[in-house]
Amino acid sequence: MQLELKNKVALVAASSRGLGKAIAWGLAREGTKLVICSRNKDILERTADEILLETGVTVFPLALDLTDRDQIDWLMAETLDLFGRVDILVTNNGGPPPGRFENLGEDDWRQAVQTTLMTAVRLSRAVIPSMKKQKWGRIIHMVSVTARQPIPSLFFSNVIRPAVIGLAKCQSQDYAADNILVNAVLPGYFSTERITELLKDRSEKTKKSLEQATAEMVSEIPLGRMGKPEELANLVVFLASERASYITGAAIQIDGGFIKGMP
Ligand SMILES: NC(=O)c1ccc[n+]([C@@H]2O[C@H](COP(=O)([O-])OP(=O)(O)OC[C@H]3O[C@@H](n4cnc5c(N)ncnc54)[C@H](OP(=O)(O)O)[C@@H]3O)[C@@H](O)[C@H]2O)c1
Repeated sequence: MQLELKNKVALVAASSRGLGKAIAWGLAREGTKLVICSRNKDILERTADEILLETGVTVFPLALDLTDRDQIDWLMAETLDLFGRVDILVTNNGGPPPGRFENLGEDDWRQAVQTTLMTAVRLSRAVIPSMKKQKWGRIIHMVSVTARQPIPSLFFSNVIRPAVIGLAKCQSQDYAADNILVNAVLPGYFSTERITELLKDRSEKTKKSLEQATAEMVSEIPLGRMGKPEELANLVVFLASERASYITGAAIQIDGGFIKGMP
């Protein structure tokens, strides 16, 4: 299948490690030019070097904090300066902290809404004018299975992520006429540093060993294992491509069967 991603320009948010990095790699292997970003400059630049070395694509690392509105404006200005347009946006970000309702205060809520919802809103607002002008765009919002099946220790994620699916659905309707396709991707458990942190949290709270907490997490997955970040990247790369030209407004889970409800 020809994905026709060569020389497209993608902005992949939060992409120095984990799922964002795997998505950046996946796009780079198809010849897509990249802007990648995260807070830690050293790790980010190392990722950019690795991608450039193996794929030869142009990749610009911009170190920034996605929760800061001004820095998102700067990211967009730099991207337009470098490439003149954005074809593909992936609104990945760091996940909100775990927690139960009674432990979450006003400031925690404000912060979680900034991280999980407002970053996706601001990044979309930044790229849509460029996509409208060229009548072509793909926006992929990274969400989580928690939007469909709450996970008890992830209160913020369970409450706020469904709003991002709402954002994707409403944007898909508003911008269909501009040929901007907007979808949400709902990952289950994938082996990344985020999952290691969540497992440590589970193990401390339940007083179980890390191995036991991991085995319990995996036992919730019918395929019997966590996903590999590249497996998630395959889906995102496809959605970003020309071949996904009739998919918009969808919320697609990729979870090894974790979600038990009917769609
Ligand atoms: N892994 C899973 O199984 C899974 C499942 C469902 C949903 N998700 C969600 O998918 C997203 C990515 O997960 P992951 O597992 O890849 O996480 P990860 O391994 O912790 O990687 C997070 C990435 O985001 C960057 N980042 C975090 N906060 C940032 C900020 N404020 N500004 C800029 N960059 C920031 C990190 O770099 P710096 O720290 O240097 O900024 C890093 O590159 C999270 O929202 C997570 O909740 C993950």
